[in-house]
Amino acid sequence: MEKKGSMETSSLVERDRRVIWHPFTQMKLACDPLAVVKGEGVYLFTECGKKILDGISSWWVNLHGHAHPYIIEKIWGQAKILEQVLFAGFTHEPAITLAERLLALLPASFEKIFYTDNGSTAVEAALKMTLQYFFNKNEQTKRIKVVCFKDGYHGDTFGAMSVAGKNDFNKPFRKHLFAVEMIDAPLRGNEENSLKQLQAILAKEDIACFIFEPLVLASGGMKIYSKEGLDALLSECKTHGVLTIADECMTGFGRLGPLFASHEMKEKPDIICLSKGITGGFLPLGVTAVKESVFQAFYSDDRSQALLHGHSYTANPLSCTAALASLDLLEKEECTNARIRIAKKQKAFVMKWKDHPKLNRCESIGTILVVEYKTAEGTSYFHPLRDRLYHHFLNHNILLRPIGNTLYVLTPYCITDNELEQIHQQIIFTLEKELF
Ligand SMILES: Cc1ncc(COP(=O)(O)O)c(C=O)c1O
Repeated sequence: MEKKGSMETSSLVERDRRVIWHPFTQMKLACDPLAVVKGEGVYLFTECGKKILDGISSWWVNLHGHAHPYIIEKIWGQAKILEQVLFAGFTHEPAITLAERLLALLPASFEKIFYTDNGSTAVEAALKMTLQYFFNKNEQTKRIKVVCFKDGYHGDTFGAMSVAGKNDFNKPFRKHLFAVEMIDAPLRGNEENSLKQLQAILAKEDIACFIFEPLVLASGGMKIYSKEGLDALLSECKTHGVLTIADECMTGFGRLGPLFASHEMKEKPDIICLSKGITGGFLPLGVTAVKESVFQAFYSDDRSQALLHGHSYTANPLSCTAALASLDLLEKEECTNARIRIAKKQKAFVMKWKDHPKLNRCESIGTILVVEYKTAEGTSYFHPLRDRLYHHFLNHNILLRPIGNTLYVLTPYCITDNELEQIHQQIIFTLEKELF
């Protein structure tokens, strides 16, 4: 019998089919995956010779383009010195410098950085911090519940699923998720309703924290909501002594314009979660940044009051080095200008097409463009339009991954005007031609 993995002459796709189980994929129905052999700038190059424009930054992680030579050089330099070391009882320079630099960039009240290794674990750590914060103060605390948005998403681990909107992603696990209170996001026109829902919940005095994606519910359909509405919710939480967690895994590192969405808010959260773009898209890393008041609840002569949480690759030196290199690039005027340029182009698209009869919604926030198509069947994740759109763009060598009937463009910042125009032209094509 032929041994698995011995097919050196067969294509990557054939070999993949034999041994790989892909994420978010119904393996029986899925088309063959595209085997990528090289990335450069905004492009992915496939085994069969396609050159694909990465219009979603490979799941929102890539900031400066694929295989950026500066980040490669820094990781290579670090790999020769120290590739990995455990992070309890030990420390290293890249982790310390990265914490110093992040704290200087985050809102002023942030004092400590806790490292993990992806977005979901950054969120798990944040949730555990808020629950243990009240437990450390009083083991009999009534504050054991979390408030979250109905359409929120924070990752695929159990804690993260518990605090997400209830949908097809977490349906099989519903009975195992911890109980939470849910409110509607303050979408424009719904601010008052959202605040009223929160007030009714907070009156019960059993809430430890409120977790939210600031200003955009990303995986929940790129729903953009009101800044003033969010400020009102945060202010209400503060009044009731409820901790607030801003999950900036998607919004962090300039996606909305400013480096962090929390800079836009009058009311600052107590905890900020970061991941995705943090390493410029090179390596996994998660950060849970906290205010001094949160840290102090764990700082004790009692060892059991410590946060007993960690991961093998916590603060991996190569990941921290990649993050430092990405920050160098992000802080350049050139990158700020690129984000402004992209934002302007997205806005111009919105101004031209927002009233198109085929669209429910066409809006932008910072560098992100969102286009929601009108459909008869509603907006489920499995909406058939999703596949038709996905393949339409791929046939034109553009990678966009619609969420149901919602298409979004979220590119690396090195994209040129012409390349962005190419994406816009294909969206216009879907509006103008009888494609669907
Ligand atoms: C807002 C937000 N938080 C957390 C996560 C989870 O991140 P990861 O996939 O790295 O676990 C995601 C992923 O899409 C996200 O959008």
